[in-house]
Amino acid sequence: MKKKGLAPGGISWSAWKLHVIVVSLTLTIVVCMLPFLSLHRFSPSHYSQIPSSRRSLHSNWDSITLHEGQPNPKVAFLFLARRHLPLDFVWKCFFQNSDTANYSIYIHSEPGFVFNESTTRTRFFHDRQLKNSIKVGWGEASMIGAERLLLKEALKDSANTRFVLLSESCIPLYNFSYIYTYLMASPRSFVDSFLDEKELRYNPNMAPYIPMSKWRKGSQWITLIRKHAEVVADDDVVFPVFKMFCKKRYNCIPDEHYVQTLLAMHDSDGELERRTITYTEWNQSASNMDKNSWHPMTFSYADAGPDKIKRIKDIDNVYYDTEYRTEWCHNNSTLVPCFLFARKFSQGAAMHLLSGGVISQFDASALMDPTP
Ligand SMILES: *[C@@H]1O[C@H](CO)[C@@H](O)[C@H](O)[C@H]1NC(C)=O
Ligand SMILES: *[C@@H]1O[C@H](CO)[C@@H](O)[C@H](O)[C@H]1NC(C)=O
Ligand SMILES: *[C@@H]1O[C@H](CO)[C@@H](O)[C@H](O)[C@H]1NC(C)=O
Ligand SMILES: *[C@@H]1O[C@H](CO)[C@@H](O)[C@H](O)[C@H]1NC(C)=O
Ligand SMILES: *[C@@H]1O[C@H](CO)[C@@H](O)[C@H](O)[C@H]1NC(C)=O
Ligand SMILES: *[C@@H]1O[C@H](CO)[C@@H](O)[C@H](O)[C@H]1NC(C)=O
Repeated sequence: MKKKGLAPGGISWSAWKLHVIVVSLTLTIVVCMLPFLSLHRFSPSHYSQIPSSRRSLHSNWDSITLHEGQPNPKVAFLFLARRHLPLDFVWKCFFQNSDTANYSIYIHSEPGFVFNESTTRTRFFHDRQLKNSIKVGWGEASMIGAERLLLKEALKDSANTRFVLLSESCIPLYNFSYIYTYLMASPRSFVDSFLDEKELRYNPNMAPYIPMSKWRKGSQWITLIRKHAEVVADDDVVFPVFKMFCKKRYNCIPDEHYVQTLLAMHDSDGELERRTITYTEWNQSASNMDKNSWHPMTFSYADAGPDKIKRIKDIDNVYYDTEYRTEWCHNNSTLVPCFLFARKFSQGAAMHLLSGGVISQFDASALMDPTP
């Protein structure tokens, strides 16, 4: 896969969309209610093997081996939402098959917005909204402010060892146990981070605090190990500089630079898988030449068929053309899928994903747990 270079094939805005959504909603219910066959719980030994080659690189990996004899290491799912979470029905299926001891959920949404029976179809999101959430301006520093609030809150639970930032339009491409094992098997953060030679967003006024050599760009959708989550949550040097100099009117989008640049300043590049685990498809139709005008495509029902999802799941490398770097996605020495999540999914696309059986196995335990 070429970075931001994937052709958005198979787009069709069918007039049948609504009809199809109704049909697929029915299908989804059926899929979620599939008879419970066998639920494979995986054992801790699956992920307790941190490759020694990696362990020796740095002495202070916050690897899961540090937590032996303590509660299960948890994945913290951090949702950054404008208001409600429209794909809650997918997450309900996702979390239903998992052990609550293995994850935690935090939501940053509009201040005052309450996640309860009236606003979400799943109890997993009840009362998970941060009490101290702030008003977020898209493309403004308040966005990274909200990310930091989510990390700060999640860090309060010492069992949280992986921190996954998700948007309201993200869906999982795998079941919980696969994603959990994948994340725990890597002692690194997943942060899409690259140099952009033609980058004009760096403001020379930042120079006393942020050297230009540390300026990075990358996807907002990051997954951090605890050590890096702490770096971001504790940062009181780079964040104020971003607030002052990385603004829309300087053509600077804070969330595409902040974590990447901050971690580079902490010389953490070697502790990263320099890629995102959240797939985005770029709409290049606006202009073939001007990459800056590309914007994320929103998957419709028709875009989320099994073939398309399989193609995304089959991607095992990403090419960064500004650095002539190919990032192979591997776990130890085996190639693994690059992407565990995808965005931006409409409700129709999310229903297609579920009804297509792409992640159906994790839907099976719905019968065990009939409460919403
Ligand atoms: C990664 O490797 C570990 C063992 O080292 C294994 O348990 C796990 O299933 C692997 N994950 C993937 C996604 O292949
Ligand atoms: C991971 O790497 C270690 C050391 O190189 C090796 O002993 C182990 O078998 C590998 N595990 C897998 C699942 O490839
Ligand atoms: C949760 O983690 C424990 C071990 O830490 C494991 O035994 C259990 O199978 C996990 N459950 C799921 C659903 O991943
Ligand atoms: C959900 O929260 C809102 C705002 O606090 C409240 O008005 C509403 O009654 C609540 N609904 C339920 C079912 O508790
Ligand atoms: C792609 O962008 C073009 C031009 O902005 C727009 O007309 C089209 O609807 C977009 N397609 C998708 C699938 O987002
Ligand atoms: C989870 O997904 C993986 C890979 O797709 C599959 O091998 C495994 O059986 C699934 N586990 C459950 C509990 O559905």
